[in-house]
Amino acid sequence: MKLLVSGAAGFIGSTFVELRVREHGDDVTVLDALTYAGRQENLREVESDIRFVAGAIEDPDAVADAIGDAEAIVNFAAETHVDRSIADPFAFSVTNGQGTHVLLEAARERGLRYVQVSTDEVYGSIETGSFTETSPLQPSSPYSATKTGADLLVLSYYHTYGLETLVARGSNNYGPRQYPEKLIPLMILNAMAGDHLPVYGDGKNVRNWLYVEDFGRGIGHVLAHGKPGEVYNCGGPDECENIAVVQRILQLTGADDSLIEYVTDRLGHDRRYSLSSEKLAALGWRAQTRFADGLERTVAWYRDNAWWWEPIRSGAYREYYERHYGRSLKS
Ligand SMILES: NC(=O)c1ccc[n+]([C@@H]2O[C@H](COP(=O)([O-])OP(=O)(O)OC[C@H]3O[C@@H](n4cnc5c(N)ncnc54)[C@H](O)[C@@H]3O)[C@@H](O)[C@H]2O)c1
Repeated sequence: MKLLVSGAAGFIGSTFVELRVREHGDDVTVLDALTYAGRQENLREVESDIRFVAGAIEDPDAVADAIGDAEAIVNFAAETHVDRSIADPFAFSVTNGQGTHVLLEAARERGLRYVQVSTDEVYGSIETGSFTETSPLQPSSPYSATKTGADLLVLSYYHTYGLETLVARGSNNYGPRQYPEKLIPLMILNAMAGDHLPVYGDGKNVRNWLYVEDFGRGIGHVLAHGKPGEVYNCGGPDECENIAVVQRILQLTGADDSLIEYVTDRLGHDRRYSLSSEKLAALGWRAQTRFADGLERTVAWYRDNAWWWEPIRSGAYREYYERHYGRSLKS
């Protein structure tokens, strides 16, 4: 299949592209603005098999240049970090809102199938039970609010224009190549360096962890088998409190418990996320990787791939970290 995959120089998109090229022989063009979170190195395993276009999804000329004779668009491009959306929300409206709109227009002009990659955060927090696709949308951060707006726009293009649009909502992802501002790589890299491990609030926030390859295959499943105009949840098989994740990382890296430091909670921090994935399971998808196995693989990957994270930890990320946590990184 000929695909335009936007935002694929990031964590999940690069995994998706690897899977599509290796397992399906797809002909992929990547469009990515290479923000702080996007790196062409993330695509190095497939670089000779794909076409890469540097550009922003909110730029109609860049989209027209990248789209070629694609049969479908899969959109990963987004500003994705909740903490950054609290400090600097406007970039989130532009990419997550306007950018999605420009891609939808390009899909409409050409009659292309369109998959929007979205998140469980659009449902907000849930104390017990799990969200289904018909649960109310109650986003609580500028990140999740702009993702929610984008989802609604995507679905409106099905209802208004009959375009084949679909939404795949994933729970919290983890795995290789995730930018170290996110919980799991942050804790792994800090533990390996002997830096403090900043845990928000009481550490009892619960997340429904999904290994990145499982989400990549889930999105592929929605692309191939999903019904236009529908939303599909892709949840991980296990839930875990943040503090338990951190303790497990300490064990896997051989670091000491004393590195844990409780810090002031994130504003509006959602307590628990949980997704029911029965709708996508009925189409034949289930997450395969249990959290214990995926976390071990992820720690091993960061241990073996310093080439990937060293430039990040010695670059602009250090300044971001200092501003955000009021502490500098050791290495
Ligand atoms: N990480 C998670 O746990 C998770 C869970 C569910 C859904 N999602 C969604 O999956 C998608 C990918 O997330 P990720 O974790 O891989 O993100 P990421 O931050 O690692 O990557 C985002 C990518 O988008 C690119 N990008 C940003 N702004 C752009 C723009 N204006 N034009 C073109 N490219 C732009 C960046 O350069 C980067 O390559 C996002 O839409 C996110 O909302 C993420």
